[in-house]
Parts: sequence; C-alpha cells; structure tokens
Amino acid sequence: MLIHSASQLITLAGGPQRGSDLGRLEIIPDGAVYIQDEKIAAVGSTRDLRRAYPDAPEVDASGRVVMPGFVDPHTHAIWAGDRAVEFEQRLQGKTYLEILAEGGGILSTVRATRTSSLEKLMAETRPRLWSMFTCGTTTAEVKTGYGLRTAVELRMLQALLTLNNEGPLEIVPTFLGAHAIAPEFLERPDDYTALICNTMLPILKEWWSHQAPYADLPFVDVFCETGAFSLEQSRSILTRAKELGFPLKIHADEFDNLGGAKLATELGAVSADHLVKTSPEDIQALANSQTAAVALPCTPFGLAETRYTPAQDILNAGGLLAIATDLNPGTAWCENMQFAMALACRYMRLTPAQAIAAATINAAAAIGRADRIGSLEPGKQADLLILSVPDYRHLGYRFGVNLVQTVIKKGRIYPV
Ligand code: NIG
Ligand code: FE
Repeated sequence: MLIHSASQLITLAGGPQRGSDLGRLEIIPDGAVYIQDEKIAAVGSTRDLRRAYPDAPEVDASGRVVMPGFVDPHTHAIWAGDRAVEFEQRLQGKTYLEILAEGGGILSTVRATRTSSLEKLMAETRPRLWSMFTCGTTTAEVKTGYGLRTAVELRMLQALLTLNNEGPLEIVPTFLGAHAIAPEFLERPDDYTALICNTMLPILKEWWSHQAPYADLPFVDVFCETGAFSLEQSRSILTRAKELGFPLKIHADEFDNLGGAKLATELGAVSADHLVKTSPEDIQALANSQTAAVALPCTPFGLAETRYTPAQDILNAGGLLAIATDLNPGTAWCENMQFAMALACRYMRLTPAQAIAAATINAAAAIGRADRIGSLEPGKQADLLILSVPDYRHLGYRFGVNLVQTVIKKGRIYPV
C-alpha cells in the first residue's frame, strides 16, 4: 500500500532526541510511505515512491499530515469503577494524598477491581483502549496496580495480554504491585514490600514464562511517594526486580521529592515518570543517564495544580523527555495524547514539534521500543496516522477535538 501526497510526512527519523535536539521532525513535503504487510518498506517523495511502486494500491493523503502513531508510555488504563465522587471532594478542598490516607483514592479502585471478574475488567477497559486508539495512540504501556495481591495483579496482567491479542491497540504491560500499600498491610508496609520482593515478583516471573508469545518481560514499576513506598522500600523492590531480569520504571516526585529519580538512574531504569518536584541535581543525574524522563501533564491539570514537570530544565540538562497521558481513574482520566501535547505546549513550553517528538520516538524509547516504533523508517512497524490537518502545528495548537482521521496499525487501515 502506498500512502501518498501528504502535505507533510513527519518521519522523525534518526532515533530518540535528547536535550536541544528535541523537535527534529525530518519532514518530507509531498511525502509518501510504502507499506508491505506489517512494516514500512520505503519513505520518500510522492514522485519517487510512485515511480518505484507503480502497481501499489494507493491511499491519497493530500492536504493532510502523515506521521507515526502516538506512543503513550505511561497509563493505568485497566481498572474497574470510577472516582467521580472523589473528584467532587477534591474540588471542595480535600487533597489527593488525604483521600488516599483515608483509604480512598487508589484503594477505592482496588476494592472495585478486586471484586471484578476477568471478563468484567476487560469489558470496562475495552472502550477506553478503543478511545485511545481512535485518538491516535497505536502502542500504550499499561500498568497493573489495582489488585495489590498476587491473584488480582495476575488477573490484570491476563486481561492485558488478552486485550493486546484482540487489538488493534498494542499493549506493553507493566507490573505495579507496588502502587500503594495493600489495605491488609497498612500498619506494616515493610511486610507488604517483602511480600512483593519474595513472593509476588518470583511468582510473576514463573507465570510469565508460560505466556508463550511474549518474549519481553513486563516492566516493574513502583510509586515512590509519601503515603505510598519510601525510597528504601522502592529500592528493595526495584533491586529485586532487576535481579530477576525485569526492566524497571518508577513513579517519582509527583507530590514530594523522595529521591526516586536518582534511584532510577542508579538502577538503570528505562524511565522515571511524573518528575514535578525533581531537584536540579536529580535532573542532572537523569540527563547523564539512559533513563527517559516522562512528563504527565494531564495529572497536574486533572488535580487542578499549577506546577508541571520542568521540561525546559530537563532539556537544558540534556535529558530524554517523553510525554504520556497517565490515564487513570484518580488524577487523569484522559485517553487522548493530543490533549497531553496541548498541555505540554502551554505549561511545559514545548513547541508543537517538540511535543510530537516527545509523544512518538521519545515515548517509544521510554518503553524500550524505539527500535520498532515511534518513527517512519524502513523496517519499522507500519503504525501511522493521517491527520485531518495540513500542518503539524495544529497539534498542540488545537485541543478538545480529535485531529486524527485515519489510524494505520501494523499496516491495517482503521478510519476513525
Ligand atoms: O500516576 N500516582 C500514582 N498513580 C497514578 C494515580 C492512580 C490513581 O489515583 O488511581 C498516577 O497519578
Ligand atoms: Fe501513574
């Protein structure tokens, strides 16, 4: 299949974009892309590619931008129920951490998720995944973390593997048994930490080895935060996960700086996420490491807070910046990466070009998949978008509507 005559073909060729390099779109005007089966076979001008592939079935993208599908590298897209009541409470003055300390917040979603069957969990999650997909997300990381006991955490993973097989959204799973201290352990958080290290992670490793088509182990993530896991508890869990061969992620500095970002760099985590209260030293440590910095602008927006990830400091230090939605029922029920980009432009001062790179090639790097997705280059998976607009700057500039007209996932066309 030949997609041709794009007003701008945004390739993002050349790998992840660090620091001041962010925003290199590598645009081909009047561009075309030739897709063979599930992969991109060639990228170039419409003239050259039509000459090279005269018999290919054609898709006319004239007057429209063609670009890689968005990669959403941080979501909690699987859960049961909702927290509309808590939203109202927060508007009336209660804080997120206060609600969590009273046994609500994450723990209220844990109660709803524990009592949901596998089928119910999938039925509630499916429409959200479809909504992400129609808004242009072709691959999303999705975390467990609303089970907080082995059987339910594995049920969540089972649901994610099944939903991934159903498609079309591709799911990269993360085990977040360390999302909150399980309600049974509220008085003895170290015991829950030990349970994760000594029981949950080894069982996960064994269970995973029976999930045949998945070569890659899931990520292991920890919510390193006041009221969740301390720095030392986070270190124990991530160190144990690393010993078992799991790739690592961390939630760090969302509300308080406990040192989670630095820990991520020490352990070689693939990403450190949130990073709102990150110190200049920790920003420098991130920039000097291979750990991607994932900003989640929907979260401060969702909490009606005014502080966002200091993206300019991260870029000035030379960091690898990505953005994600953080889709979850508590702080940010937002399926749409375009909205995350619009916020990133305004509150993190990214240009549309920088936001696009942060939401594609850098987001792919933040889930360790930059070799397969995130740009339009020969050999990469054919995951791409046809937008309804002629210029890439409409992304970020416009918000509250969907600018995606067609999603192509592994070479298959989905009109939206
Ligand atoms: O990334 N911070 C921890 N986890 C989510 C919130 C999850 C929830 O409130 O259900 C986050 O913001
Ligand atoms: Fe999160």
